Amino acid sequence: MAWDNYYANHQKKGAFKHLKVADIFMGGGTTLIEGSRLGMQMSGNDLNPVAWFVVKQELADVDLDEVKRLLADIESEVKPQIMPFYYCDGPNGEKGTWTHKPSGKMMGADFDPLALKPEERKDYAYDGPEIIYTFWAKHGPCQATGCGHRTPIMTKPLVASRAPTISYWPHQCKNCVASYDIEENSNRLAPDVPCSSRKMKSFCIA
Ligand SMILES: C[S@@+](CC[C@H](N)C(=O)[O-])C[C@H]1O[C@@H](n2cnc3c(N)ncnc32)[C@H](O)[C@@H]1O
Repeated sequence: MAWDNYYANHQKKGAFKHLKVADIFMGGGTTLIEGSRLGMQMSGNDLNPVAWFVVKQELADVDLDEVKRLLADIESEVKPQIMPFYYCDGPNGEKGTWTHKPSGKMMGADFDPLALKPEERKDYAYDGPEIIYTFWAKHGPCQATGCGHRTPIMTKPLVASRAPTISYWPHQCKNCVASYDIEENSNRLAPDVPCSSRKMKSFCIA
């Protein structure tokens, strides 16, 4: 529901077509893109020529099929080269699989994709969890001569955590004695999207 509304054709009604908006520090163009998506008349400016180039490309009229072909081309060339740096275990320890494409053989747990030479990487395909973001945490090296001790500037690697803000009541099923929470409202960001978790717990709903 939320995504249907987001991607709906907001220009159709023309409700915003008379609005003129200027973002004189447009940067990467988020405001320009969102405004034009809503059908506003957007103008942008930036002293950085890279910002100008990026926004010009973002708003360019493109042949969608040509873009898709180009992306597929980039993916087939680049993905195998960088995948050894992006594979990881899932939050619950889920492991991905590496396959040697010419033989179709699935590699064992001792397979180390980082040991592959760049020219060998195109022969291997990966299916599984991938890193989305990498945060570099700086260390402060001790300035005393000969010490070199490195103190992490961040005390822990957790960047942010969020406590559930939804009201719930802890409950125990009288029939199967399983414990679960009854939530007042849906706790999911996209409640209309089907759950894809492999570890869904099923409870008796008596
Ligand atoms: C944080 S970005 C702007 C983000 C953008 N307004 C948006 O809504 O997504 C700030 C931009 O301001 C630009 N900028 C800073 N000083 C400027 C100036 N004097 N004239 C034009 N652009 C400037 C920078 O180059 C940078 O790209």
